[in-house]
Amino acid sequence: MEKNALNIVDERTQASYVIPIYKRTVRAMDLRQIKTGAEDFGLMTYDPAFLNTASCQSAITYIDGDKGILRYRGYPIDQLAEKCTFLEVAYLLLFGELPTESQLIDWIDNITHHTMIHETTKRFLEGFRYNAHPMGMFISTVAALSTVYPESRNVHDAEVRLHQIHRLIGKVPTIAAYTYRHSLGFPYVYPDNDLGYAENFMNMLWKMVEPKYHANPVLARALDILFILHADHEQNCSTNVMRAVGSAQADPFLCTAAAAAALSGPLHGGANEEVLRMLAEIGSKDRVPAYIANIKAGHGKLMGFGHRVYKNYDPRAKIIKWAADQVFQTTGKNPKLEIALELERIALEDDYFIKRKLYPNVDFYSGIIYQALGFKPEMFTVLFAIPRTVGWLAQWQEMLEDPEQKIARPRQIYTGHDAREFVPIEKRGV
Ligand SMILES: CC(C)(COP(=O)(O)OP(=O)(O)OC[C@H]1O[C@@H](n2cnc3c(N)ncnc32)[C@H](O)[C@@H]1OP(=O)(O)O)[C@@H](O)C(=O)NCCC(=O)NCCS
Repeated sequence: MEKNALNIVDERTQASYVIPIYKRTVRAMDLRQIKTGAEDFGLMTYDPAFLNTASCQSAITYIDGDKGILRYRGYPIDQLAEKCTFLEVAYLLLFGELPTESQLIDWIDNITHHTMIHETTKRFLEGFRYNAHPMGMFISTVAALSTVYPESRNVHDAEVRLHQIHRLIGKVPTIAAYTYRHSLGFPYVYPDNDLGYAENFMNMLWKMVEPKYHANPVLARALDILFILHADHEQNCSTNVMRAVGSAQADPFLCTAAAAAALSGPLHGGANEEVLRMLAEIGSKDRVPAYIANIKAGHGKLMGFGHRVYKNYDPRAKIIKWAADQVFQTTGKNPKLEIALELERIALEDDYFIKRKLYPNVDFYSGIIYQALGFKPEMFTVLFAIPRTVGWLAQWQEMLEDPEQKIARPRQIYTGHDAREFVPIEKRGV
């Protein structure tokens, strides 16, 4: 008898089956052999919202939610945040190893040379209303790049793929900055290839009439660290969308737009925007206890708290808290920080939150820093989408190279009517 296996007895038939256990999972397809007769389709698994289903094998990101561990390609997130630049981490996520010095120079060069967007794409952006949400503009413009680079649909050509990866990582800050300038009615600023990734982004956001933009190095580094923290998070909602759309072999621009659309939801990347709204609604530190009591009474959720995977302090939230300190030394304190700290203090001592293992997640503090850096809440999810593009692309590439993957197509349990006769309209009653 194989040791690393399940021995299943089907009580309907008394038949028994040995199902191998592979890396602490059973293959759902192994259950298909469990049938009551020749006509039976075979047993399926039912797992709404993928609570207990691995949809792929991945070597990119490791999370241990109970212990609060996050690693990219084996490296702890705090070491990467402390010692690397975002583009170095992007290379690591995509290619599996940290770059050598010459690899990093080439990589930066490749990304930097794809920061411009076509003038027609710029005009496309101009078509949005003055008050369009930046995330809607971002998603649509990334999708529109698909029309500019039709060769990108050739997803099985590794060289073509790499070219689109350079383009996407290079262009997403430009598109993001243009959505911001559009919402202010300011002229767009072209990329400056002398600058680093975060600095150039800041240049495109905030340069006015000065001949050369000089970013504050503390703020540029804080933004780069935020980018590192948001670069990948294994099989989250938007990454699952990236893989699912990619599995139909859509081009990477369309896949990225679809993933960004998922990210825009308030339960995913939109949460940091909601955190700031919540802090504004609370208004002052003394109103925190009443707000928490209201949540416990079942009125809404504490935004920026709780996570599907982390049942411990989100390791990214710790680093963000540290980065917030650096930023506030330069910009002065954001008054919302006081409310946030009080919320965290009370919630972490409260039975309701302790029992449910609800801790601050990455979004709890990121919005406060973004605001201190000068961003409006509408921009927050766009700021998340820039670095997450790297994670999406790494996961997309891994999916395409995985011989086990096919077009993603779940099953369902049908709960509708059995076959019934068509009813003509005059017989359907009033
Ligand atoms: C992230 C999130 C969607 C995870 O959801 P999930 O894994 O499906 O967790 P559940 O919704 O099953 O929550 C389990 C319990 O905790 C409660 N809960 C979860 N998050 C909560 C929050 N932020 N505030 C208050 N209660 C919360 C749920 O009501 C539920 O309570 P119950 O068992 O009494 O019904 C959820 O925690 C949430 O909506 N958080 C706020 C939004 C947010 O910050 N998102 C960013 C994620 S990075």
